[in-house]
Amino acid sequence: MRIPRSLVAIVAALVFTAAPFVAQGQAATSHTSTSAATSEQNWWKNAVFYEIYPRSFQDSNGDGIGDLNGITSRLDYLKSLGINAIWLTPIYPSPQVDFGYDISDYEAIDPQYGTMADFDHLIAEANKRHIRVLMDMVMNHTSDQHQWFIQSRSSRNNPYRDWYMWHDGKGETATSKGEPPNNWQSLFGHSAWQWDPKTRQYYYHRFYIQQPDLNWNNPKVRQAFKDILAFWLKRGVGGFRFDAITALFEDPQLRNDDVVKDKNGKPIINAFGDSQLDSKFTDNLPEVHDVMAEMRAFTNTFDSNHFPGSRVLIGETYLPNIAELRKQYGSAANPEFQLPMDTQIGFINKLDVATFRNRIDDAETKLDGQVPLIVFDNHDNPRIDARYGDGVHNTAIERVIATILFASRGASLFYNGDEIGMKTTPPTRKQDVKDPVGITGWPKNKGRDGERTPMQWSDAPNAGFSSPGVKTWLPIPPSYTTVNVAAEEHNKNSMLDWYKTLIHLKQSVPALEIGKETMLATSSNTVLSWQRTAPGEPAVVVAVNFTASPQKVDLSAAGSKAETLLKSPEGVDPASLQHVELKPFGVYIGQVKP
Ligand code: NOJ
Repeated sequence: MRIPRSLVAIVAALVFTAAPFVAQGQAATSHTSTSAATSEQNWWKNAVFYEIYPRSFQDSNGDGIGDLNGITSRLDYLKSLGINAIWLTPIYPSPQVDFGYDISDYEAIDPQYGTMADFDHLIAEANKRHIRVLMDMVMNHTSDQHQWFIQSRSSRNNPYRDWYMWHDGKGETATSKGEPPNNWQSLFGHSAWQWDPKTRQYYYHRFYIQQPDLNWNNPKVRQAFKDILAFWLKRGVGGFRFDAITALFEDPQLRNDDVVKDKNGKPIINAFGDSQLDSKFTDNLPEVHDVMAEMRAFTNTFDSNHFPGSRVLIGETYLPNIAELRKQYGSAANPEFQLPMDTQIGFINKLDVATFRNRIDDAETKLDGQVPLIVFDNHDNPRIDARYGDGVHNTAIERVIATILFASRGASLFYNGDEIGMKTTPPTRKQDVKDPVGITGWPKNKGRDGERTPMQWSDAPNAGFSSPGVKTWLPIPPSYTTVNVAAEEHNKNSMLDWYKTLIHLKQSVPALEIGKETMLATSSNTVLSWQRTAPGEPAVVVAVNFTASPQKVDLSAAGSKAETLLKSPEGVDPASLQHVELKPFGVYIGQVKP
């Protein structure tokens, strides 16, 4: 791979002109930028977001668990990647049943991760490096140890009773709890209803029993979350990622979800042994749009002069199609998310050219010009190797995925460790499983430990994640001796270098920054290719081979010749765009010559 000298200069210039921004309470610094897409107000439009799973990122105090000071100590590394923002999965006080997604206090820091002073320090240090910090906002449910729920379950007359979803069972008698109100299921297995003997009613939980769902029809719940947003916005966060947002509302009539059947009409049984349900009455109900419009309007009032640019709202939006994704942006009058995640593309989980082409094209043509947030990976899914790899060309395939992630139009989000090619490493024995999903679902569903293993910084004992000799909360995968940041930082052919190069291209080549995207060679079922074009700028062509054999593709619709911006390590520079040759799972990116 290589980058033209002129490009290196542009990248360097961008790095050095980036002025730090400041948190609430300080005067805002002005920031000069090269294009509309990178201006402060619109900083998120072509941004690169980096998901950090704090528990597994960097341990600074030798307890085997990552923490905030650990993240702060790695900010220079994050800066060197070229990212614009980090999203931290939950760091609030929590019993850690769902490793932070069961929150018992939304306005504090879990002592496992540090203190509020450590958090403020992280924000200040991140700001100095022009990196925004986004928090995870879990509004669907709390921990059962949250004071709201402790109050709520204490009596039917408690003022917090209707903050949660309590219902009578069916056929209940003085001596029997009867049956749950309906067939709704937890995504983590079995009935979503939990009988609470003290007040003799069931409460609803979309996730673990220890994660009771809040009642979003209660205006007090809405107000409580606005107060929580304000608390963090005032501390200078750059926005939020809204967890499980499509699960906020359920059918008030409590109608049963339908059982999903296979093509022979037989019910599909999931890894937990339950019939698969369609979630028609438990997911993606329209009321969520009102809530998000309200939260966005509220958040916008914090833009002001205390923070340069918009705070950004990201949605965890697994949706069935592009039309549903479009709705998550809201309207011009009532905007909702700036960046609902486009899981349509990243979770195809199969290198099928036609499907990728259609879905990327959908993001270009069916979102009314809104910015897609492309994402392939997170702490809930096996990593890229396990979902897209063929076991032989995994590294090349990871390069293909990264190319789609960064060279497509939109913002990009990736998960810590992907940039070094970390592999999914699931537990091999049930007794080692930490994620309760893996215990309930064993062995069909081994849970999410495999994608949450500690970050591999070096080949030192404990991979530089924690002190030598410490028992880390999840084991360090054996691959750490070769797959690690230190080794890859000095290797021009490493995955880390591939990521850095793509990010720099995305943020410095105008057509890749702001250009519209048009598919090329659309009859090919082996090569996915497209061009990015911006007025007055040279076009850029991108081609990725989705097969294990060499392929040729004709990109001449974009021009006759190109200067190579990036290619697979073993790739060749094409003499003409009519004959672009790609090695197995090879990649080519070129800037079209006038
Ligand atoms: C989605 C989060 O990413 C996942 O880790 C969590 O278990 C569920 N939401 C419930 O909060």
